[in-house]
Amino acid sequence: MCGIFGYTGKKEAQGLVLEGLKHLEYRGYDSSGIAVQNGFDHLAVRKTDGKIKRLEEILKAHPLKGTTAIGHTRWATHGTPSPQNAHPHLDHESQIAVVHNGIIENYFDLKKTLEEEGVRFRSETDTEVIVHLVSKYYKGNLENAVRAALRNLKGTYAVAVIASHEPGKIVAAKCDSPLVLGLGTNESYLASDVSAVLEHTRRVIFLENGDVVSLSGGKFQLTDLAGKPVSRKTNVIDWDVARARKGGFEHFMLKEIFEQPEILSAILKERASGSRIHFEELKISETKLKRIKRITIIACGTAYHAGLTAKYIFEEFTDIPVWVDTSSEFRYRDAKVGPDTLVVAISQSGETADTLAGLREAKKKKALTLSVCNVLGSSLAREAHGVIYTHAGPEIAVASTKAYTAQLTVLYLLAFYFAQIAASGPSKKLAGLLKEFIRVPHLMQNILDRYKRDEGQWRENAHDFNVRYHAQLEKYFNADPEKRKRSPNGFFLYLGRNINYPSALEGALKLKEISYIPAEGYAAGEMKHGPIALIDENPWVICIAPQSRTYDKMISNIQEIRARGGCIIPIVTEKDEAIRRLDPIYVIEIPPVSEIFSPLLVIVPLQLIAYSVAREFGEDIDQPRNLAKSVTVE
Ligand code: F6R
Repeated sequence: MCGIFGYTGKKEAQGLVLEGLKHLEYRGYDSSGIAVQNGFDHLAVRKTDGKIKRLEEILKAHPLKGTTAIGHTRWATHGTPSPQNAHPHLDHESQIAVVHNGIIENYFDLKKTLEEEGVRFRSETDTEVIVHLVSKYYKGNLENAVRAALRNLKGTYAVAVIASHEPGKIVAAKCDSPLVLGLGTNESYLASDVSAVLEHTRRVIFLENGDVVSLSGGKFQLTDLAGKPVSRKTNVIDWDVARARKGGFEHFMLKEIFEQPEILSAILKERASGSRIHFEELKISETKLKRIKRITIIACGTAYHAGLTAKYIFEEFTDIPVWVDTSSEFRYRDAKVGPDTLVVAISQSGETADTLAGLREAKKKKALTLSVCNVLGSSLAREAHGVIYTHAGPEIAVASTKAYTAQLTVLYLLAFYFAQIAASGPSKKLAGLLKEFIRVPHLMQNILDRYKRDEGQWRENAHDFNVRYHAQLEKYFNADPEKRKRSPNGFFLYLGRNINYPSALEGALKLKEISYIPAEGYAAGEMKHGPIALIDENPWVICIAPQSRTYDKMISNIQEIRARGGCIIPIVTEKDEAIRRLDPIYVIEIPPVSEIFSPLLVIVPLQLIAYSVAREFGEDIDQPRNLAKSVTVE
């Protein structure tokens, strides 16, 4: 969590840091701040609770001049969001400023010792110990002081430090939280995510754990914690900067939903040619993959739902059994993985703490590990034995959409790749599948075109839902308490079967996180084992029912809901007649597609339902409350 941005060079730093922080706001947005160095002997700080917009207003009224600065956008871990707890933190004499992303696990002991030495703390954060430690060790050389301070820390950090006595210099370091160095001409940038520096430079260095870097204008020096010089590769990033902007859409989430067909096409073009699949950067040989007896997938949230879908795909096309775990559960149980297991860690950010810890656990147990990541050079990508990038471009909206379908696409191809290896070459079946797969992005585009055409109707439906929802709530709360039904009103159920059971979970997650309306995803066959008790006229039941081998079963499940007065919104294949007869409130159609690929199509209306409801409710779609894009804490 939290975003860091730094600049040193010849330009005024305030505006650059502010813009950089805006690109990182998805990492946390409960408070923010900036420290600017203005000539010898002077550090000036502005910080506030609330979003970066508030910091921007403060800086507009009280600008800071100077060409070296560090900034921070926070997602609170230790201490409430408040101006005192916002970063940067200053030492006693206000000569040193620190911004930090991560968690200092031994901060309590360090704080106690520092307090005994006479230090008075101003915040409740773990970060503040860092600035007092740097101050304690500062003897005229900031690099030495930072290295000495960091040697005391246990936990995770990306830090950036400036000192009033060392104009033009930023010292930064990394341990398990991401930090990227952007190399310009006579200037340097620091950021938690590469997308924040792309506007200024394409030449970047991804810092490694234990690296300490000292930046002055366009020069930099890299060492380890002991001060020994280290060298790191300079990467040239060729991402499209426009992708990181809203491009005329009302929200990043909508833009990212619309980017999906293009991203899927690009992945297919890159990975599949004719009837063959290839993963150039995989770094794991076919011989090693052939020895794999089982696969364990670990991931969190949306990525976990991609993993659940992958189980159906792998088990249909290969003989390899697949287990899927949320990373936070995997790491604390004695999972049976070993040298014959491939552990696949899926993560958009590649920095999710639980998934990283799960990967390390798997490596300890001698499993072969593969990460499926979106962010280039992320920790997960670097630490796994092999990596497959999803190349979905920067995902800015907190609710994941394009990263999910990109993960699914890569996982389909990986399953087909395993089938290809097992068959020792291309097969007719695989060639047929790939032929259909290549059409999927067009079918997705078709759904999006219909959304564009019928957007007015989507808005009306969302408004209609809003009216009914509030009428129900009113009825409930105004009813005589004696007569009040006990079931709460206004929630959603998402039902799916087989390969679309994970789609139901993902649809419900999307709605919950951006509209704050309770929603549950269920395997439709499980309804009769408990959840059907919830059904009366109140919940909206989204039934994922495209043509499939379980279509008839799904119809029976829907009939059971209708028989109890439930409102249904089915997602069906075009020209479906049977479900229309069951008196749905609305029907959403998708083009015909083989069952195996249907998760890639049904997810689009599910994303659009969540988006439309949240927009109708006026919620902060791209930055929902309590969430952050990259969860680098346990
Ligand atoms: C939901 C969402 C989260 C993430 C989860 C894992 O829309 O974005 O559930 O999927 O936090 O994040 P990554 O994929 O970065 O490991």
